[in-house]
Amino acid sequence: MVSHFVSNFGLYIHIPFCLQRCYYCDFATYTQEEACFSIEKYVEILCLEIKKIGPFVRGSTLKTLYFGGGTPSLLSPMQLEKIQGQLREVGLSWGSSTEVTIEINPATLDSHKLKAFLQQGVNRFSVGAQTFDDITLKKLNRKHTAQETRETLKLLKEEGCHYSFDLLFGLPHQTLKSLTLDLEEIAHYLPHHISPYYLTLKDSHFLNRHRPPEETEIRMFQEIRSFLMILGYEQYEISNFARKKEYRSQHNSLYWDDQSYLGLGLGSHSYWKEQGFFGARFSNPTGLSEYAQWVTSWNPQLSLLDERNPLLVEILEKFQALTEYCYISLRRHRGLSLEGLQCKFGSHCLALVQKNLDPWIEKKKVLFSEGHWSLTDSGKDLSNQIFLDLTFSKIELTK
Ligand SMILES: C[S@@+](CC[C@H](N)C(=O)[O-])C[C@H]1O[C@@H](n2cnc3c(N)ncnc32)[C@H](O)[C@@H]1O
Ligand code: SF4
Repeated sequence: MVSHFVSNFGLYIHIPFCLQRCYYCDFATYTQEEACFSIEKYVEILCLEIKKIGPFVRGSTLKTLYFGGGTPSLLSPMQLEKIQGQLREVGLSWGSSTEVTIEINPATLDSHKLKAFLQQGVNRFSVGAQTFDDITLKKLNRKHTAQETRETLKLLKEEGCHYSFDLLFGLPHQTLKSLTLDLEEIAHYLPHHISPYYLTLKDSHFLNRHRPPEETEIRMFQEIRSFLMILGYEQYEISNFARKKEYRSQHNSLYWDDQSYLGLGLGSHSYWKEQGFFGARFSNPTGLSEYAQWVTSWNPQLSLLDERNPLLVEILEKFQALTEYCYISLRRHRGLSLEGLQCKFGSHCLALVQKNLDPWIEKKKVLFSEGHWSLTDSGKDLSNQIFLDLTFSKIELTK
C-alpha cells in the first residue's frame, strides 16, 4: 500500500481515563481502578505511538488539536506538556492561531491547572455539564454536582477562556419544565458554544425507563433550539450552536466538511481521505493492554495503514463514502452542496440523491436553495428518517 502524505489535518488524542463510569457512556474509557496501568504509563505508550507515526506526518501543520476522552482534564500539566513535546519532536507544527481543545469534566480543573493549560497553548475548553439537576446527575452516575459545574464554568469565564459546554436531553424523569433549569444556566453563562445531545442508549438499557415520550423529546429539542436562537446562537450543525461564526468548533467541522483527521490513543478513529479513491477509515484497539501491545509491536514500514490490524482498517467503497458524505453534510446548517456531490461522486450519484430528496422537499423537510440541500427545522426533527433514504447500497450504485 502506498503512503499518501497529507500536509494538513486535524489531530485527535484520546485520554481514556475517568473518575467513574457514567451509566449511559459507551466511549472507550476506564476508571483508574479498572485500568491495568496508570495515566503516566499510558502517556508513555501514547508518545511511542506518536514516534511511530512520525515519519508519515513529519513536516505537517496541524489544522486543529483536540484532547478528548475519557477525561483529559485528569492529565497533569506535565503530562500534557510531554505529549505536545513529542508531537513537536516528530516534526508536527501548529501555531497560536490553531484551535487546541481539551475536554474538561467539572471538578477536575483548578485555577493552577487551568493557568498551566493556557500556557501550554490550550485555547478552547469543552465542559461536560450534561445537566444541572443534581438528582439526575446522581442517577447517571456522574461524579460532580451542579454547583461544581458552575464553579468550573465560573473559573473559565473569569480567566476569559473560550469555552463550550455539553448538555444531554431526553433524560430519565426529565420534563419540559425541568429542562428550563438547564436553559436558565445557558442564559446565565452564555458560553461561546454549546452542544445539546439527545441521550442515545441501547434499547435494553435500564436508563430508558422513565424517559420522556418521543414527542416530548422532539419538543425538548425544539425548545432548546428556539431558546438558543433568542439568545443569538447560530445552529451550524444539528447538535452544535455557536454565538459567533468564529466560535464554531473547527475540529468538529473537519468531520462535517469531509476533511482528513488522525486519531491517536486507545480506540481512536481516523479518516484519511487521500487513501484509495474514497478515503479510508481506521481505528486503534479499544482494550488497554491490547492497545499497549499493538503500539509496541506495530512497525509501520510502507504506509500509515500497513501492518495495522486489517480488521480495523476500512478502505471506503463508493456507496459507503456517498452515504457518509450525505449524512455529515446534511447535519450542517449549510447543507449538502450539489456541486460538491457531483464533483466527488459524479452525475449518477447526483441523480440518485436528487430522486431520494425530492419527496422530502415536497414535505418541506428539506430545502433546496443556492445549490445546497439543507434540513428545515422540522426536517432536523426527522433527520434519522431522511438519512435512511440516503443510505445507499453497493447494488444501487452499480445499476
Ligand atoms: C465522551 S464524552 C467526554 C466528556 C467528558 N468525559 C464528560 O463526560 O463530561 C463527550 C460528550 O459525549 C456526550 N455523550 C456521551 N455519552 C452519550 C450518550 N450515550 N448519548 C448522547 N451523548 C453522549 C456527552 O454529552 C459528553 O459530554
Ligand atoms: S466522564 Fe465522560 S467519558 Fe467518562 S464515563 Fe462519563 S461520560 Fe463517559
